[in-house]
Amino acid sequence: MDTVFVSGPLLGDALEALREAPFEVVLDEGGVGSDAFAASADRVRGIVTLITDRVDAALLARTPRLAIVANVAVGVDNVDLEACRARGIVVTNTPDVLTEATADLAFGLLIDAARRISEGDRLVRAGGWERWTPTFHLGQRVHGMKLGIVGFGRIGKAVARRARGFGMHVGYTQRRREPEALERALGATWVPSLDELCATSDAITIHVPLTPESRHLFDAKRLAAMRPGSILVNTARGAVVDEAALAYALEHGPLAAAGLDVFEREPAVHPALLARENAVLAPHIGSADRETREAMASLAAANVIRVLSGQPPLTPLV
Ligand code: NAP
Ligand code: GLV
Repeated sequence: MDTVFVSGPLLGDALEALREAPFEVVLDEGGVGSDAFAASADRVRGIVTLITDRVDAALLARTPRLAIVANVAVGVDNVDLEACRARGIVVTNTPDVLTEATADLAFGLLIDAARRISEGDRLVRAGGWERWTPTFHLGQRVHGMKLGIVGFGRIGKAVARRARGFGMHVGYTQRRREPEALERALGATWVPSLDELCATSDAITIHVPLTPESRHLFDAKRLAAMRPGSILVNTARGAVVDEAALAYALEHGPLAAAGLDVFEREPAVHPALLARENAVLAPHIGSADRETREAMASLAAANVIRVLSGQPPLTPLV
C-alpha cells in the first residue's frame, strides 16, 4: 500500500478520500520537519504540503519513492520546482478554488486601510472616542478611486471585478497584456510600466507569485516613488515587499496606509510595521473561509489519488 504524508489538518472529506484510496496516511501537523515524516520519508509516495513546508533538494534526497507533492495553496514558492522536475516528481497546487476568497480579503484590506476601520476599532475599545465631529477620524474615499493591480492573473482579475462595483478606475500591470476584449469586459487598462502605475494610482494591490524576479519588487526606491497619500495592499507573498522599507514609507510617506495579509518571515512581523497604526495586519487568511479550505484540501487529495493511480493530475505545475 502506498504511503501518503499529510502535513496538518485538512477540512472536509479529503483525508477520508485518501484513506479509502487506499493509502497508508501519515498525518502530522509538524509537517515535513516532524519525526513522523522522518520515520516515513523512505517509503512516502505522496506528500500533501502546506505553505509552511519547504520542499527542497535536501527533502527530495530523503524521499527516494516520492511521486507527487500536492501543495494546499496556489503559491508554490515553498517548493523547489526545478529539483522536482529533475527527479520526475509531479507538483500540483490549488488554483481557482481560492480566487474569490483571496480577492474578498484583498478588497476588505483595501477598504479597512482606506477608511481606517481597524484603527477606529482600537480607538473605540481604548476609550479614545470622545464625540462625533466633521473632522474626526477621516479616511480616504474608496468609491471611484484609481486602483492599480500588479499581477492580473486569477486573483488580480477577481479584484478588478469587485472594483467595478465600486466605480473604480482600474489599471493593471504584468509582463503579458491581456486581450482587449477581456480588458473591456473588466474595465481595466494595461499600464506596461509598474513605476507609472505606482505613481498614478490611489491604491496598489499586489497579486504576483513570489519568484526571484518579484522578490522585493516593492523595494525602498519603488515605495518612495509611489503616489503621495496612496495605499498598498499585499495578499500575494510578504517577500514581494521589503517590509522594513514599507514601515519607513508608512511613517515618513509617501504611503498613507497599507493592508497586509502576508509577511516576509511569517508568523513574525517587522517590529516597525507592528508599531504603525496605519498598517492593517492580517494573519495570512486570504483563503481562510471553510468552503474554500475544503475545496483546496479536496483538490490536493484528488491530485494525489490520481497520480498514484496512474492518471494525470488535475492541476499540475511540474
Ligand atoms: P496567477 O493566476 O498565476 O496570476 C499571477 C499573475 O502575476 C500572472 O498573470 C502573471 O502575469 C503576473 N506576474 C508574474 N510575475 C510577475 C512579475 N514579476 N511582475 C508583474 N506581474 C507578474 O496567480 P493567482 O492565482 O492570481 O495567485 C497569485 C498569488 O497570490 C499566488 O502565487 C500566491 O502567492 C498568492 N496567494 C495568496 C493567498 C493568501 O492567502 N494571501 C491566497 C492565494 C494566493 P505575467 O506572467 O504575464 O507577468
Ligand atoms: C496561499 O497563500 C496560497 O498561495 O494559496
